[in-house]
Amino acid sequence: MTLGFILNGEDVVVKADASSRLIDILRNHFKLLGAKAGCLSGVCGACSVIFNGKVVPSCLIPAFRIRGSEIITIEAFSETDEYQDIREGFSQSGVENCGYCDAGKILAVETLLSRNLRPTREEILLAFKGIKCRCTEPDSLVAGVLATSDIRQRRLYGRSA
Ligand code: FES
Ligand code: FES
Repeated sequence: MTLGFILNGEDVVVKADASSRLIDILRNHFKLLGAKAGCLSGVCGACSVIFNGKVVPSCLIPAFRIRGSEIITIEAFSETDEYQDIREGFSQSGVENCGYCDAGKILAVETLLSRNLRPTREEILLAFKGIKCRCTEPDSLVAGVLATSDIRQRRLYGRSA
């Protein structure tokens, strides 16, 4: 099947097998390897992308759903100021960075902070519900998101709350 969609801001067209999933297309056709092939069953979040504005596991998106969609991968997001905010906030808070869960962890923070710059602990933990990070304790993740929020507020408004 032929699929046209927007990938990292560019119109693309790809011929893909009808049985393939978004993760296969990203990795095999576009050599975008930031979405990791972990559980391949929607549980770990390592394969996350932003799909039409929401963080989703790309292993659960069948080929036919890609047509006409807008997809942002961790590769494109890592070029942004928002990514740098998160990296700095994580680094200040001892959030681990082995690379396995980066796509899920980082994109989950971004979708949370883009709609709520001052999340509560409960909201942060809820945002990470579908992301399995084996290396970082929940308290460090919460501290990392709050530090990121402060950094972003300073960058955008010259002060934090
Ligand atoms: S590889 Fe997709 S959720 Fe685990
Ligand atoms: S940092 Fe290693 S799995 Fe999350």
